[in-house]
Amino acid sequence: MAEKILVASGKGGVGKTSVTVGLCKALHKCGKKVLIIDCDMLRSVDLLTGVTEKLLYDWGDVVLGRCEPCQAVYASADVDVMTCPFSYEGIDGGKMKNLVALFDEQYDYIFLDAPAGIGKGFELALSGADRALVVSTADLVCVRSACRAADVIFASGMSDVRLIINRVMKKDIKKGRLLNVDSVIDSTQVQLIGVIPEDKAIRLGSMGKNIYRTGQDSYIPFTNIAARVRGEYIDLAL
Ligand SMILES: Nc1ncnc2c1ncn2[C@@H]1O[C@H](COP(=O)(O)OP(=O)(O)OP(=O)(O)O)[C@@H](O)[C@H]1O
Ligand SMILES: [Mg+2]
Repeated sequence: MAEKILVASGKGGVGKTSVTVGLCKALHKCGKKVLIIDCDMLRSVDLLTGVTEKLLYDWGDVVLGRCEPCQAVYASADVDVMTCPFSYEGIDGGKMKNLVALFDEQYDYIFLDAPAGIGKGFELALSGADRALVVSTADLVCVRSACRAADVIFASGMSDVRLIINRVMKKDIKKGRLLNVDSVIDSTQVQLIGVIPEDKAIRLGSMGKNIYRTGQDSYIPFTNIAARVRGEYIDLAL
């Protein structure tokens, strides 16, 4: 049975999609079968995984009975991807849950990459998941919105919620230009699962480059967070 993981943030542009794709690639590297469901109508998972040219159906087509489930799943070099419909009309939490359940037996992990905010796309992604990763950068604005997203997630009854702090620059923390890791944890009240540094290789992901490769700054953090997602103990070593 697949583990279904929501990736959410509140504020937009903090790195949810980049973190989702990097983590899923790391999970694939250790032999796991992974599906990413893009729950953001603005779509970006396909660009970061290189499946854009293949896209014909989205998961809305499956929910609304316009295609077979397998027709809306696109294989990349490592992870499988379902792209988002351009409207959530006719789709509710129950249907989303049923959609995800269709793939339960085929995958070890199903990631639901939420859009920014706590609107319908976020709610649908939340309905399909049984645990969550909240991504925040280390600044006041993003931390506040991460708190809000975490509150909504906890209020739904989900208890397995972990925090990823993204785009961390130690130099800027020292100079007081970013919050330190402890402050972000204290403010969000969410248990930390990992910290990802500012990394040019991740930035280039939005230009279609592979965002998970050896030698990049975030390779070990991605690998370690993936191991923690699998339940392994890896020291946080902040
Ligand atoms: N650790 C990082 N280092 C450098 N750039 C990063 C990092 N994480 C994300 N980025 C860059 O930040 C931008 C936003 O990232 P991304 O699209 O993953 O965020 P998002 O939270 O999914 O956005 P949205 O809310 O619009 O869905 C992208 O240009 C991405 O390459
Ligand atoms: Mg995104």
